[in-house]
Amino acid sequence: MSFLQANSPSPLPPAMHPDRIFEPSPDFRDKFNRLPFMYSHYLADHPLMQLPRLVELANTLIQYGPGSIRCQASKMPKHLKWTDATLKEDLQEKLPEFIANIEHSESWLLLYSVQRDPEYRALVDQIIDELEQLTGQPLRQEMSWIDAYIFIASPRAVTSYHIDHESTFLMQMHGDRTSNLFDGNDRSILTDEELENFYIGDLTAATYSDAKQAKAYVYPMTAGKGVHHPVCAPHWYQNGEQYSIALGIHFDFKSDDRRARVHQANYYLRKLGLKPTPPGQSAFKDSLKIKFIGLFSDRHPQTKGDVLYSGIRRLRGIAAKIAQTRKIFAKKA
Ligand SMILES: [Fe+2]
Repeated sequence: MSFLQANSPSPLPPAMHPDRIFEPSPDFRDKFNRLPFMYSHYLADHPLMQLPRLVELANTLIQYGPGSIRCQASKMPKHLKWTDATLKEDLQEKLPEFIANIEHSESWLLLYSVQRDPEYRALVDQIIDELEQLTGQPLRQEMSWIDAYIFIASPRAVTSYHIDHESTFLMQMHGDRTSNLFDGNDRSILTDEELENFYIGDLTAATYSDAKQAKAYVYPMTAGKGVHHPVCAPHWYQNGEQYSIALGIHFDFKSDDRRARVHQANYYLRKLGLKPTPPGQSAFKDSLKIKFIGLFSDRHPQTKGDVLYSGIRRLRGIAAKIAQTRKIFAKKA
């Protein structure tokens, strides 16, 4: 169950509930979870998106553990891998200072699950309501997971090139930055092997190149603008001369979870020297692969990680035991 399904009507003041959040556009319906697009929104001046309130939010979130906030140095070239950034030390103590002085602290912060605070939860709930209307999709019914993040970054920060399993609506609240988005369905940009490695657990599998950059959708984002990333659409960001605040709404959809299992099965088939059929080309083969990975997956997954990776974790465990048994027999023989 998502956090939104358990939500109840909120007694928040009217300023927290704008009449409308998005400027309507046919792109929501025509391109949703297929192609990147830019849109306009009306949340840039919202009280929940101001720095003092975000310091308060960070202090609330840190009580859920250090994993509730990611904090790293803001200056890293776009071609570096996501995991190459150095994590800041003494996160908990310095966090309010990093945020309050974001203009100069050369920091890049990601506040996870901001809906743990009831005021943010009510706003996110309203955003989903409106997205369901604009896309014409029953998002709550089709999703397996949802989360809302807030990104806060110093001037000139770079978010390096990567892909996510989530389908995202990112909304710029302060500052300007350039969004570079790519068509994840174009195999000259994102190869089957990159997708298979990503779904086997290498979160940095997608690799940037100048040749790919020529095919980017480049959107100049300012406060009041937003972009949509479909599932596995590669992206990287370059911040401008001001600090940046952005809200991201992230969905996993059941259909994308199933496709992930096809990529996982294909990873192993490729390891066996075969040339596996990519997802979407044979419903029969896709179904067999989904069922196969499903045999090893948790019946009642508790987390997004369990949904995506419990099957391959179990398969790896079985493979390790077989290899160990072979070694023992080989020694005795
Ligand atoms: Fe991302």
